[in-house]
Amino acid sequence: MAHDASSDIPARIEAALERALPAAATEPARLHEAMRYAVLGGGKRIRPRLVHATGQTLGVAAEQLDAPATAVELIHAYSLVHDDLPAMDDDALRRGAPTVHIAYDEATAILAGDALQSLAFEILAADTSVAERPAIGAARTHTLALACGSRGMVGGQVLDMASEGQTIDQATLERLHRHKTGALLRACVRLAADTQPSLASDRREALDHFAEHIGLAFQVRDDVLDIESDTQTLGKTQGADIAHAKATYPALLGLDAARDYANRLYEQALAALAPFGDDADPLRAIAAEIVKRDH
Ligand code: IPE
Ligand code: IPE
Ligand code: MG
Ligand code: MG
Ligand code: MG
Repeated sequence: MAHDASSDIPARIEAALERALPAAATEPARLHEAMRYAVLGGGKRIRPRLVHATGQTLGVAAEQLDAPATAVELIHAYSLVHDDLPAMDDDALRRGAPTVHIAYDEATAILAGDALQSLAFEILAADTSVAERPAIGAARTHTLALACGSRGMVGGQVLDMASEGQTIDQATLERLHRHKTGALLRACVRLAADTQPSLASDRREALDHFAEHIGLAFQVRDDVLDIESDTQTLGKTQGADIAHAKATYPALLGLDAARDYANRLYEQALAALAPFGDDADPLRAIAAEIVKRDH
């Protein structure tokens, strides 16, 4: 079946997330309410859109991408809930609303994050659209697990916390960004590529190259926005990185150099898409959004 027009994708993503989450009345109701609060309260949905945009580039059916798109957003939502906890960034505002530990309580926020992570893998494992090709399911599970664990996002969060108040060198900062944010964004592209096992290895590598650069650019832009945007636009507290003495590109290189770096990464990401011609336009659109966004 052909993929949907890109305009239908955002609604498709919301519907799939809504379906994946247990109803708020399901016991334990407070936990399920908190999980729904964490996921359904907005967000740009860049990660699931990246999964679908890669699938569109490759001609993968949207039905086969609903589960991985949902799973990455559930992991992302869990990572934000935990990132905002007092023990980590101690933030009170997320997506324009109180963070989960403020709206509920700390224990509920920890447990909602835990359960969102499990749910992500449940959704991936239960995907009937690839049931006849178990190797696809196994590859995608492996991709997601690697990206969000100690050698991926969680490892990056450890580096982020350890670097607070420290002056780290550029190589360490790049490693931090690659892990805490880059790994999951890279996984979005890989999850779609994993769904097409016949994909030639040079094309797979080109997509990976794209994802690597745009993943880094994403966090550089996030760091720049912490300085140049405002709390209302961001929906999260502006200046939080400075308040916590976070190791960021603007802190290390200055604001102009950080902006230039994001643009350079963007150009490199675009260059990697050349072999795909017009088919990669959905990826080009998301890449532009990532470096130009204001929130
Ligand atoms: C914020 O991610 C956290 C980072 C990894 C920098 P997003 O900017 O994608 O947040 P939402 O999902 O749109 O709220
Ligand atoms: C968050 O990075 C990365 C993860 C949640 C894995 P940040 O701490 O910079 O994200 P924001 O700025 O709070 O959204
Ligand atoms: Mg953080
Ligand atoms: Mg944070
Ligand atoms: Mg940030």
